Amino acid sequence: MHTQNQRLLAALGYLLRKPVKALKAIHRDRFAARYWETYVAERYAASPALAKGLPQVDILDLFPEFEETVTPFAMLEASATPMDVALLKQLAQRFEHCDYLEIGRWRAESLVNVASVSRSAVSLSLSPEQMHQTGFDRTMIGQDGFFINRMAATPNIECIDCDTQTFDFASLDRKFDLIFVDGDHHSAAVRQDTRNVFKLLRDERSVIVWHDYAESPERVRWPVYAGILDGCPEELRGNLCHVSNTLCALFTREPLNTQHRSFAMTPQSSFEVSLRGRRLPPAG
Ligand SMILES: C[S@@+](CC[C@H](N)C(=O)[O-])C[C@H]1O[C@@H](n2cnc3c(N)ncnc32)[C@H](O)[C@@H]1O
Repeated sequence: MHTQNQRLLAALGYLLRKPVKALKAIHRDRFAARYWETYVAERYAASPALAKGLPQVDILDLFPEFEETVTPFAMLEASATPMDVALLKQLAQRFEHCDYLEIGRWRAESLVNVASVSRSAVSLSLSPEQMHQTGFDRTMIGQDGFFINRMAATPNIECIDCDTQTFDFASLDRKFDLIFVDGDHHSAAVRQDTRNVFKLLRDERSVIVWHDYAESPERVRWPVYAGILDGCPEELRGNLCHVSNTLCALFTREPLNTQHRSFAMTPQSSFEVSLRGRRLPPAG
């Protein structure tokens, strides 16, 4: 039977068996942003600074000489933005031999970019079969790992097909300098990924970046933010910030100047954007 029909039947069964819970879940999905914003406000009421979103660090405070090239980049949907990828590349280059872990690959734009400035890059992402079961469209599944397959050799990339919600992270048996969380964006899944990746940090300099902490550089994406806060060890929540001009949250132990900013922000910096397109060779 078609997977979508199976999921529909399962949902109907759940609605009949547990109507109150099911209706609550439907309400939560329908009004996710408001639901999770209220959740954060109530759960973190004792830390009013966190309840309104993360404090922001200016990307030019992090990298005063900020200049980066992002390639390959498809300029299509569902990837990190060029600024997000540039942030990751800049962070990776702070380490002499960066070991990079990424959750969520899709076309592998962030993966191939960061691998180009890292010693090693490990990708944890759903297998095509798991993507199918989760309800991803066939055309999307066909794009999985696109830039790994189409670029020059990327021998330092290791792809592990898995569902990170059930994956045994201890089996990786190694630590990482830079970790990028960009898999399942549901709050509970972000919480679980966050709990797991904190255990994989190599040392005091190691950092974590979460994609889609924000839905635009000016607005919080509340379900993801709730997952980050819930998954972050309590004593380290003060080390979280939003990197300006990106969709990313950052965990770092580096002392940073941060301030709360919200829509509509007055620009503090101006960036230069230079674009060049090249046709990809036909698939071999
Ligand atoms: C937004 S895309 C990643 C985009 C990529 N990081 C980039 O910027 O180029 C999300 C990816 O997460 C994967 N994913 C979703 N749920 C997952 C899970 N539970 N475990 C592992 N990967 C998951 C999807 O298969 C998809 O490849």
